[in-house]
Amino acid sequence: MDVRSVSLSDKIFEKIDDEPELRRLAEEMTKLMLYHKCALREVETKFRVLDDQLSMKRERNPISTIKTRLKSPMSIKEKLERLGLPVTLSSAEENLNDIAGIRVICAFTDDVYTLADCLLKQDDVKLIGVKDYIKAPKPNGYRSLHLIIEIPIFLIDQKKAVRVEVQLRTIAMENWANLEHRLRYKKNIPEEKLAVTADMLSECAEMSGMLDFKMQEIRKIIEDE
Ligand code: GTP
Ligand code: MG
Repeated sequence: MDVRSVSLSDKIFEKIDDEPELRRLAEEMTKLMLYHKCALREVETKFRVLDDQLSMKRERNPISTIKTRLKSPMSIKEKLERLGLPVTLSSAEENLNDIAGIRVICAFTDDVYTLADCLLKQDDVKLIGVKDYIKAPKPNGYRSLHLIIEIPIFLIDQKKAVRVEVQLRTIAMENWANLEHRLRYKKNIPEEKLAVTADMLSECAEMSGMLDFKMQEIRKIIEDE
């Protein structure tokens, strides 16, 4: 039996007793999570190195914060179900680009693009896809630069290519996205209030875009002098 095609919804979330095939499935799941955890470490290190080097050149750190997150087995299962895909380990590995996610929060918008360019120039980084929600914000006002990359990780006896979702944004974009995310998942808000907050959020997105732009202009003046 190929454990990689065993349905996760039926098996893995039940109590794993002494059945060897279930134990193997659990081991495969643990391996999948480990590969993605290692990939996150690699990408985080790449950004930290870039931050160190760019800060030497510019006397300021382009990166404010780095956050990493590993999608939980339960979220992996829910996403596969939502997409109508087979709920198996090989399906997760093939179809999901965001099991490993890293968010890089920068002071300024141009730092976002500089870091993305520097990362993508590295010869072990393969670009799978880009979504530039800064140049073309989502209708609700969401802004961020999203990259799906594939990088090799080096294990004891093998090299493995692992995909990672990279989100790059400014502090203002992060603040906006966190607020919008909280509102989206908040239950019991009356319809009319939701409509008002959607309008307010859209205004805030515009204002925060302007704030990012103006602050960057000021910084450029300081740096040019
Ligand atoms: P999933 O949402 O993961 O299925 O990804 P997708 O294929 O729709 O890709 P996309 O690049 O649009 O979004 C990926 C991630 O970006 C999401 O999981 C969120 O973390 C973030 N994101 C995208 N759109 C929004 C938004 O409107 N608001 C907030 N707060 N976050 C967003
Ligand atoms: Mg996602």
